Amino acid sequence: MNRSLLASFGVVAVLLTGCDNGNQASTTTTTTDTVVVKIVPAALPDSAAFRDTTGAQATALYILKNGHAQAAVTNYGARLVSLIVPDKTGNPTDVVVGYDNINNYLHQPDTYFGAIVGRYGNRIAKGHFKLNGKQYTLATNDGPNTLHGGKKGFDAGIWTGKQLSDKSLQLFYLSTDGEEGYPGNLQVKVTYTLTDSNTLRVDYEATTDKATVLNITNHSYFNLNGQGSGTINDHVLQLNADAYTPVDSTLIPTGKIEPVAGTPFDFRQPTAIGARINDNNQQLKFGHGYDHNFVLNKSKDSLGLAAIVQGDKSGIVLTVRTDQPGVQFYGGNFMKGTNPIKAGKKDDYRSAFCLETQHYPDSPNEPSFPSTELKPGETFRSSTTFTFATK
Ligand code: BGC
Repeated sequence: MNRSLLASFGVVAVLLTGCDNGNQASTTTTTTDTVVVKIVPAALPDSAAFRDTTGAQATALYILKNGHAQAAVTNYGARLVSLIVPDKTGNPTDVVVGYDNINNYLHQPDTYFGAIVGRYGNRIAKGHFKLNGKQYTLATNDGPNTLHGGKKGFDAGIWTGKQLSDKSLQLFYLSTDGEEGYPGNLQVKVTYTLTDSNTLRVDYEATTDKATVLNITNHSYFNLNGQGSGTINDHVLQLNADAYTPVDSTLIPTGKIEPVAGTPFDFRQPTAIGARINDNNQQLKFGHGYDHNFVLNKSKDSLGLAAIVQGDKSGIVLTVRTDQPGVQFYGGNFMKGTNPIKAGKKDDYRSAFCLETQHYPDSPNEPSFPSTELKPGETFRSSTTFTFATK
């Protein structure tokens, strides 16, 4: 849908602020008292820009479509590159941060944009854990700790893609015994499905040939006003969590599970993300903002409610459901505006948020947290859905 706005206010700045929702390129032509702003709607990246054959395995871009929404996924890190959904006026809006070519994914500093992270999403303290009496040492890549699998996590692996239909894609990855220090050959399968009801469903499956630990999640950075369109602090967030896991200064959970009541972590009622972000709170200081695991309230449904977020400008509402016990809410505190994301934008500070459905960080070292062990003969299965609507 090509939109062209014709106005005769003669005030270019006002028109541009009002019309550019950030995920789109806009061009302006000015006559004496008439301004024409042409908005190029959000479009999927060019598949050719995702073909790289220099490594052992080729990279590619896969497209999912349902008539209202479109998604693009690359087999490099099984990453969600684009997700285009209509806003409240029907305007196609790309709600995830990503690059428009494979080179940037391969060579920019790793931000985990859209990636499947593993073998263990989030942190393991000091890169050590014990399983069945045996001590394991992992690669550390985040100060003293291991983050998102280590130096080369699942996000940096080349997965094997198999497109099942217009709406569904399967990706396979073998994480070998000893990779980044984790025991066991782990076979992982991730299925992305874009349903007719504008839900992106992510199904995970894994098996191992030795006892191991596993915490696998999707690390998409969302901006519901359109990627690259400024702060997410005015988005309104609701989290289905009465408790969270406080952390130390290196973002490792202390082991306590604390109520959110009376703290800036209470999102049980819809609240602007930034409303309390500058409160004088030790946990916000440790996280440089929100970067915490929330303990999801138990649900009778197989996919319980995790979060509802509304874009303040677009009216796009994202509902996240999962069978996982926690969700890491990360408010983009380490985004620096130095990476060139799609549509000529930059990944500005706090211009996206992540809702990483998962087990709690550092669970292998916290016996009171739900177990993340996977044994040979078992099949790990988990699902998360991201549903888009407007209000
Ligand atoms: C972590 C953040 C980290 C971000 C990007 C989040 O899951 O909790 O601390 O900066 O991922 O790596």
